Parts: sequence; C-alpha cells; structure tokens
Amino acid sequence: MRDPYALIRPLLFRLEPERAHALAFAWGRFLQAMPGFGGAAAALSGGGLPGLRRSVAGLDFPTPLGLAAGLDKGAELLPFWKGLGFGHVEIGTVTPRPQPGNPQPRIFRLPEEGLLLNRMGFNSEGAEVVARRLRDRPAGLRVGGNLGKNKETPDEGALEDYCASYRLIAPLVDYVALNVSSPNTPGLRRLQAPEALKPLLNGVLGLRKEMGLEARPLFLKLAPDLGQEELEATVGVAAASGISGIIATNTTLDRGIVVQALRPRVEAWGAGGLSGRPLAAKARSVRLRILELLGGRLPLIACGGLSSPEEARAALGDGAALLQIYTALIFQGPGLVRRINECLSAAR
Ligand SMILES: Cc1cc2nc3c(=O)[nH]c(=O)nc-3n(C[C@H](O)[C@H](O)[C@H](O)COP(=O)(O)O)c2cc1C
Repeated sequence: MRDPYALIRPLLFRLEPERAHALAFAWGRFLQAMPGFGGAAAALSGGGLPGLRRSVAGLDFPTPLGLAAGLDKGAELLPFWKGLGFGHVEIGTVTPRPQPGNPQPRIFRLPEEGLLLNRMGFNSEGAEVVARRLRDRPAGLRVGGNLGKNKETPDEGALEDYCASYRLIAPLVDYVALNVSSPNTPGLRRLQAPEALKPLLNGVLGLRKEMGLEARPLFLKLAPDLGQEELEATVGVAAASGISGIIATNTTLDRGIVVQALRPRVEAWGAGGLSGRPLAAKARSVRLRILELLGGRLPLIACGGLSSPEEARAALGDGAALLQIYTALIFQGPGLVRRINECLSAAR
C-alpha cells in the first residue's frame, strides 16, 4: 500500500511551514478525538511489537523511539503520538510565563537535504496552561517535560525560571529535561558551561528532593556545538551532579554541515538552528564522545539527524538507551515511526 503521507506531503509542503504545522495539528486533534482512534492506530502503527520494551533511568518505555522536544510544545496531541507508535514524547520547551517566540517566518525547509532551519525562540503558552493539559494525558505513553527560560530572564534568573516550571510540570510527567542548548534564546547555551551548569543542576535537584520527586528522572539536553574541552567539562559536571541522563543533541549553528552548493540558500534564511539528515554525522560523533566520557555512568538519549531505521538501530548499537526524532518525521511522515519500530523489533 502506498504511504498516505506521500499524497499529503505535497499539499503540506506547498504551505508555509507554520501553516502546515497548524493544519497537521488540526488533523491530529480531529483524529485523536475519534472513537476507536487508539485501537485502530495501534494496529496500523505496529504498536506492541515484541522486543521493544526497555527500562531506562528506572522507567519502563514501550519502545525506545520517542518524539523530540519542540513539535508538541503544549502537550496537545499526546493520544495522537501514542497512536503513531512513539513510546515517549518530550513536550515543550515550556517556559514559566507565556511568550510569543520570534517573529515569523522562523522555520525553513530544504527538502532535497531533509533539513530544517528554525529560530522559533521558545513560543510557549507558559507552564500553567501546559500543566493543565497534562492532567488528561493518556496511559501507556511516557511523557517528558522539556523546560527552558523566558527570553527576558537574565542569566542570573535562569534557575528561578527552571524551578518555576519544574514545580508545575514535574509532578505531571515521567521525566523532566532541562534544555540549555537551544540556540534561539540569547545566552541559553551559556548555561552549559560548568560554572553556570553546576548551580543550575544542584538547584533543580534540590527542588526535586524538596518536592519528594527523587525518583523522577532529570535529563539534560546538550548542543552539538561544544568544543572538545567544553564538552568534557560539561559532561563531567552532569555525571557528577546526580542527574539521570543526557539527551544529545539539539540543533546546530554550524552551516558547514550543509553541502557547499546549497549553503548560500541556507545562509540567506538568517539565524537559527539546523536539524535533520545533514546533522546526523555531527550529532553522532558528539554522542560517541559523550558515551566515552560517561563510561556507562548515565544513559544517553540519541537525538539529531536520525532519519532511517538503520540509523536508529545503529544509534542503539553505539550505546544509546533511547532515541528521539523530529525533522525526519516532517519529511517522511508517520510511516517512519512504524518502520523504525519494525526494524528494531526484527533486530532484537
Ligand atoms: C522547528 C523545531 C523546533 C524545535 N524546538 C525545540 C524546543 O523547543 N526544545 C528543544 O529542546 N528542542 C527543540 N528542537 C530540537 C529537536 O528537539 C532536536 O533536538 C533537533 O531537531 C535534532 O533532531 P532532528 O534532527 O531529529 O530534528 C526543535 C527542532 C525544530 C526543527
């Protein structure tokens, strides 16, 4: 049977990316509200294939494959993602107070390369609204809450921002991810430096204890653009802090990942982080280094450029505990989730 996404994609891709996103979300909302959606979707998506379950950071995941942060920032489509066959969804980035993000246009596509550029800048409805939605989350899907700071918050106020969101979101999710790696909030990536990271992690871990949520894993999401020494220092601080795992990677600022002939086009779009197939090699080499530095002390969640079942399997073979995708889903559609799950199940 022909993949229905092959028919829908030309229509979606004729639209400006955020309009396509809104249309896809409208379909998602419609579908997930249909009686019997869950059962029908599970049958189509290959849900429940043998050999996919795994335990990471004390949590049981139905499959290693998850949806990366940034697509469902407001936790609007959780039953839909579950129906597509994802084992977990990372909602967010959520900021404590609502904010609009950067002016549009702020997403650009390069379909020939399977690449996106985005400078969304944390458009967020704010932690209160998202928390309210999380109260109705479906069973059987792991949900992570990815937290960030508001744009106008100065570096010194970052910890307070993360804590404000943590108080509202953490009790309602299975794990929390601290995002210190989006390139579109000025100064955010500076939080990866040891002198800023240490107090941030200690502060959030302290709050976790205060709230009696010690068993709720805390992950840290890193950028692929740290130099060798920076990466070593950052991973050292993370591993010593008591957090539960590292997600690698976020988008890159490095235009060098784009083939020479298309680079001027990407540069003309302006600022933003790049994701998708061209990021794969860079993200993988960062992950391999992190795995080496961790030496098994913490699990690694692989993200960045994963675009095929073979790459997904290879990332697990490299030592990743879980996988996340975003950009490849936009270009290849929901069939990719099923293909990856089938491949991982067959390879077990
Ligand atoms: C449009 C867009 C928005 C994103 N927003 C977020 C975000 O809010 N928080 C975050 O941690 N990562 C965000 N990301 C990064 C993804 O979660 C992921 O780390 C990155 O895109 C690399 O994975 P991929 O190549 O599979 O897309 C965003 C990515 C895209 C393309």
